[in-house]
Amino acid sequence: MKKLLSVFVFVLTLIALVGCTSSNIYTFILDESYDGYITLGTSADYAPYEWIKNVEGKSALVGIDIEIAKEIAHAMKKNLKVVNKGFDFLLDDLKQGKVDFVLAGMTPTDKRKQEVDFSMVYYEAIQVIMINESNLDAYQTFDDLNKSSIRIGAQLGSIQQDLAETFTLAQKQYIQTIPDLMMRLSDGQIDAVIVEKPVADGYVLNRENLAISNIMIGDPEGGSAVAVQKGNTEFLTVINQVIEELISTGKLNQIVVDMISFNQ
Ligand code: ARG
Repeated sequence: MKKLLSVFVFVLTLIALVGCTSSNIYTFILDESYDGYITLGTSADYAPYEWIKNVEGKSALVGIDIEIAKEIAHAMKKNLKVVNKGFDFLLDDLKQGKVDFVLAGMTPTDKRKQEVDFSMVYYEAIQVIMINESNLDAYQTFDDLNKSSIRIGAQLGSIQQDLAETFTLAQKQYIQTIPDLMMRLSDGQIDAVIVEKPVADGYVLNRENLAISNIMIGDPEGGSAVAVQKGNTEFLTVINQVIEELISTGKLNQIVVDMISFNQ
């Protein structure tokens, strides 16, 4: 009996392991008649841009960026494959040709533009500082956070990491995933997290102990654009056409509204 149980546990572990390794790739058959796939790189820790949602007992990859990527794939008459990785890996994967394009709420900074090409901006958002609700009174100005006793968090490799550096006196913690950062904030291991407002809004709604502080940070703009390999102008032209159409028809607005409510 004991032996049977251990075989059972072994098989379960095996299933879990296989599940883990394959779970980083998601495929969307958009049309049976399409030939092959285009591959998107993303970091699905960023609701409402992209995240893994439990839909009817299965983990599904959803979000604004995923919907846009599907539209781009349709325009290319291809099905869509998505590789889900840490945000800090995305540009290297793109440069090495492991993925064809990246949508990850990624801001087209000058530094990144030296490595890859970007589409037009499809979504604008500002940066905010999240804190524990109980600290709303204590943390009201930049100087309240710019102290050696304060720990400021941001996602590894993000523009928020650069913004965190402006708090020269504070300690910094750069973590790979947003859920991990938010957990540390909730637990009191970090005092403040810099993040894009749509992401912050989701956490405020879903976790009542977290709040958005009134502190403004320098250069708070953060638009999102699609990245492709340098010089891939043909693909970029298609992508820009898709984005323009999504914006002009109001479809993108609808996607944003739907995904924000899907995250609640
Ligand atoms: N907009 C920020 C940046 O470009 C953060 C994006 C983080 N995205 C993500 N999927 N985790 O650096």
